[in-house]
Amino acid sequence: MLNKPTDDMNDTTKKTHTKEKQYIIPSGVNILEYLRSKDIFIPAPCGGAGTCGKCKIRLIAGCLPDNGNDRALLSDDEINSGLRLACRSNTNMPVRIQLFTEPDKENFSICTDHGNEQDHEIDLKDMDSGHEYGIAIDLGTTTIAAEITDITENVGLITRASVNRQRTFGADVVSRIEAAASGRGEELKRIIEKDLCDLVESMGISSETRISKVVISGNTTMYHLLMEYDVSGIASFPFSPVSLGGEWFLRDEVFSLETVKRKVLPQDCRIYLMPGLGAFVGGDIFSGMYATGITRDKGVSFFIDIGTNAEMVLKKEDMYFTTSAAAGPALEGGNLKWGTGSVAGAISGVTANTSGFGIKTISDAAPVGICGTGAIEAVYELLQAGILDRYGTFAERYRDHGFPLAKSVMGEIISLDQDDIRQIQMAKAAIRAGAEALMKHAGVSADEVDRVYVSGGFGSYLDMKKAAGTGLLPEGLLCKAQATGNTSLKGAQMALSDGIRSSADEEYQRIMSKTEPVDLANDEWFKERYIECMNFE
Ligand code: FES
Repeated sequence: MLNKPTDDMNDTTKKTHTKEKQYIIPSGVNILEYLRSKDIFIPAPCGGAGTCGKCKIRLIAGCLPDNGNDRALLSDDEINSGLRLACRSNTNMPVRIQLFTEPDKENFSICTDHGNEQDHEIDLKDMDSGHEYGIAIDLGTTTIAAEITDITENVGLITRASVNRQRTFGADVVSRIEAAASGRGEELKRIIEKDLCDLVESMGISSETRISKVVISGNTTMYHLLMEYDVSGIASFPFSPVSLGGEWFLRDEVFSLETVKRKVLPQDCRIYLMPGLGAFVGGDIFSGMYATGITRDKGVSFFIDIGTNAEMVLKKEDMYFTTSAAAGPALEGGNLKWGTGSVAGAISGVTANTSGFGIKTISDAAPVGICGTGAIEAVYELLQAGILDRYGTFAERYRDHGFPLAKSVMGEIISLDQDDIRQIQMAKAAIRAGAEALMKHAGVSADEVDRVYVSGGFGSYLDMKKAAGTGLLPEGLLCKAQATGNTSLKGAQMALSDGIRSSADEEYQRIMSKTEPVDLANDEWFKERYIECMNFE
C-alpha cells in the first residue's frame, strides 16, 4: 500500500480546492473513464489501450490494486513514487490523485494562419442587419477551427481554434472508430458537440446572432462521430461510410437536445457537411481542393494535407489520383509528450542561432505545448545543430530527458524527447513514402510536377525549407511547394460565400467521376520505401 486513505476520501467531489489538479476518485471506477465523465480530459493518444504511457497520474492517497498493468510502461522508481497509468487503474476504494498536465480546457486561440488582422476589433453587435452571416468550421481530429463569415460581403470576421477533446479516446481516427464501435459513440458525439458550441460561443455568437448557414469541413470519421452514424462500415475493409457528407441538415438534425438548449445557433440555421471523396479522403480534402483551385490548374498539381492521416491528391490532366497515408498525429502534436493542437500558447516556430534556441508561440501566449509546425521546426534545427543525427538519435546528453524548448507557466520543462522524435520520424516517413507512391502510381516524376500545395491545421504556415530539410518532401518538389495554411477552413468559408449548390457542388460531381483512389495498405513498394524514409536526410 502506497499511502493510507485519508478521512476526506468519503468526499467524492471531483476537485479539491486547496491543492490544484488533485482529484478524489470514487471506488469502483476506471480512473481515465471517470475523469472523462467529469469532462476532465488528459492526454490518452492510444485511447486507453495501455500502450502509449501518456495518461500518467500520481497516486497521492489511497491504494490501487497492483495488477501488473503499469509495469510494461513505468519503471520501478516511477511506480514507487506513485506514478500510475489512468487507463489501467481501476479503483476498489476512493483514492486521491494528481494530474501531471493541465487537463484540456477551453483553450481558444486566434487562428494565425487564416486570421484576420482586425480580429479583435470586430463587434458582432455591429453586424449589418441587411447582411447574411455564416460560420465555416474545420472539424479536425486534433484541432477544431471556426470562422464567422459575412456571406454578403464574402469576408471572414473572426477566426478561432480549440482542441478536439475527443482525443482522450485516442489521437487517431482508428481509436475513435474503435471507441464508437464499442458503444462510446454517444459520449464521443456529446464531446464534439460541446467543443463546437464552446468554440462558437467563444466568438461571441448566440442564437440572437443572425447565422443562417454553417458549413462543416472534416474527415469522414469526424462526420460519423458528429452525426452518430454507425461506424461499423468504416471500421474495416472495404470501408463503406454511411455518408461522405454533401448534405444539408437543420440545426436540430445535427445537434442533440442538450446542445440545442444552449441556444448557440438559431433554430432555422442550416448546416452543410462538405462532401468527401472516399472513406479516408474526406470533406476536408475536397475543401482543400476547392480552396487551392487545383481543379482549374493546368499541368500536374499535387495537394498534400498533413494531418493525422496525410491525405493527398495528384491531379494529372483531368484525372485525380488520391490516397491517404497513416502518418499518425505527431505532426498535429497529437502523440508527443508535450504535443497540443493549434491553440494559444502552442509552440509553432523554433529558430536557432549562435546564442541558442528561440521559440514562437501561437497568439504569443505562454507556452503550453508543441503543435505541428513547432515539432517540424524543432527537428530541423536540432538536425542542423547536430543534436539529432540522421537516424533520429539524440546526442548523449539529451537522450534521457530530451531537448528542452521552453518552460510552462507551471514551471514544467516543455521538451521533445526520444519517443517524440520516433513519432515524428514515422509521420514524415509515411508522408514522404506516400507522396512518392502516389507519383509512381500516376506515372509522374518529381520533375514533372508543376506545383505542390501543402496544407494542414498547423496553427501557422509551414516553413517549407525546414519541412523539406527533415525529408518530409522529395527534394525535387521543394522549389514548387507552397504552404497554403488551413485549406479545410478556407474551403468551407469559400463554399459558404459561393453558394454550395452552385460551384462547389458542380465541381464535386465532376471530380468524383474522375477520381482514382490508390490503396497504400497493400502496396509493397510503399512499405519498403516507408522504412527507408524513417531516417532524416
Ligand atoms: Fe493510458 Fe495510453 S497508456 S491512454
